[in-house]
Amino acid sequence: MFEELGVFLRLGDATDVVTKEMYDFKDKGDRHIALRPEHTAGICRAFAQHRPNTPWKVWYSGSNFRYEKAQAGRYRQFDQVGIEVLGSADPLLDVEVIALGWQFFAALGLRNVELLVNSLGDPSDRAAYIQALKTYFSQHSSDLSEEAATTLLKNPLRVLDSKRSQDADIIAGAPTIKDFLSSEASEHFATVVAGLDVLGIPYKLTPGLVRGLDYYQRTVFEFVSTSLDNAQTAVGGGGRYDGLVEDLGGPATAGVGFALGVDRTLLACDSENVFGLGSLEVDAFFVDVVNGMSALRLCEEVRAAGFTADRAFDGRSMKSQMKAADRCGATFAVIIGEDEANAGTCTVRHLATSEQHIIPQVELIQYLSRTLGERHPRRTSQ
Ligand code: HAM
Repeated sequence: MFEELGVFLRLGDATDVVTKEMYDFKDKGDRHIALRPEHTAGICRAFAQHRPNTPWKVWYSGSNFRYEKAQAGRYRQFDQVGIEVLGSADPLLDVEVIALGWQFFAALGLRNVELLVNSLGDPSDRAAYIQALKTYFSQHSSDLSEEAATTLLKNPLRVLDSKRSQDADIIAGAPTIKDFLSSEASEHFATVVAGLDVLGIPYKLTPGLVRGLDYYQRTVFEFVSTSLDNAQTAVGGGGRYDGLVEDLGGPATAGVGFALGVDRTLLACDSENVFGLGSLEVDAFFVDVVNGMSALRLCEEVRAAGFTADRAFDGRSMKSQMKAADRCGATFAVIIGEDEANAGTCTVRHLATSEQHIIPQVELIQYLSRTLGERHPRRTSQ
C-alpha cells in the first residue's frame, strides 16, 4: 500500500501524479513514504529487489491514492486490477497483454469499450518529438488556453491531452509522433498492430494518445468506455516501460502491462446495465396506522415475491407516513387503517395518479404482479 517516496519519484517529475497528487508523509522511523498512486512502480521495485526468473508475469488488485480534484469517475482512492510482464521486449507480448484486457471487458459483458493504441517511440524519438511539440506549441502559445500554456512549460506532450475547445484546432495541427519513430520502434508498432489484426481485436490508431505517466516508451494503449458521458471515460490503460526497472536500480529489463480502473469499469457496467439489476425504486410503501403488524407481515410477503417494499417506523401519523411514501418515490402506497385491518383488506393508492382500490390483503401480490409485471421470487432455504 505504501513505498519509499523515491520509488514513485522515478515516475517522472513532469507527471502530476508525482508532483501534485502524492500522499506522502514521514513515518515514525522518519522515513519519507507515500501511499501508492499506482502499482507498476512497486512491481518494478519488487523485481529489482528479488530478481525473479524472467519472463515474470504478475497480476494485482488493490487501492491507489491520488490527490486529484474529485469528480464523477475520478476519486482520491480508487481500485485497479492489473498485470505486468517483465523480461521480454517482444511486440507479440504487447499484443497478449492488450488482448487480456480486451477479453476482460468482453467477458464482463461490456460492449461499448474502444481500444486506442499508439507508439511513443524510443526515448530518443520521444525526446525529439517533445522538442518539436515545444517549438510548435510555443508558436501558438498566445492562442492556447491558460491551462494548456501552463502544461506546455512542464510537459509539452500533455498539451495533446487538453479537452478544451480553445485548444482543439491547435492540437489538430500539431506534429504527430509517427514522423519521429525510429525504424525499430516503427517495426515494433507495426507488429503490435498486425498481432491485433490476427486476433480480430478492433483498435483505433490514436497518435495523440500520450498517457498520464512518464515511464512509457513504444506501445501505449487505453480502453475507453463510450457509454460513460462524463470526462473520465478511460476504464483502463497501459503500455511498455522498458527503462523503469533500471531507473529503480535493477538490471535493464523490458516491461509491459496495464491497469484497469475498477471504479470506472463498474460505472460503465451500470450505464450498460451489465448486471441486469432490477429497478431500485420502491414498488410498495406500507402505511399502517393500526399497530404496524400488517405492514410487518405484508412487507415480508411482497419482498419474498420479488417486489421492493418499504414502510415507516415509530408509529407515525397517517400524514407523515404518506409523506414518506411520496418522498421515497414509491409507485404504490398500501394503506392499512382500522377499517382495512378489521376487513382484512388494504387500500392500494397509485401515487402518481392518486387512483386507489380497496382489495383483500391476500390478493395484494396478485395485484402488484398484474400492474407491475411478474418479479423473481426470493429463493428460500426450504
Ligand atoms: P493510469 O492510466 O493512471 O495507469 O490508470 C489506469 C486506470 O485506473 C485508468 O484508466 C482509470 O480507469 C483508473 N484511474 C486512474 N486514476 C483514477 C482516479 N483518480 N479515480 C478512478 N479511477 C482512476 C496506471 O496507473 C498504470 N500503472 C497502468 C500500467 C500498468 N501501465 C503499465 N502497467
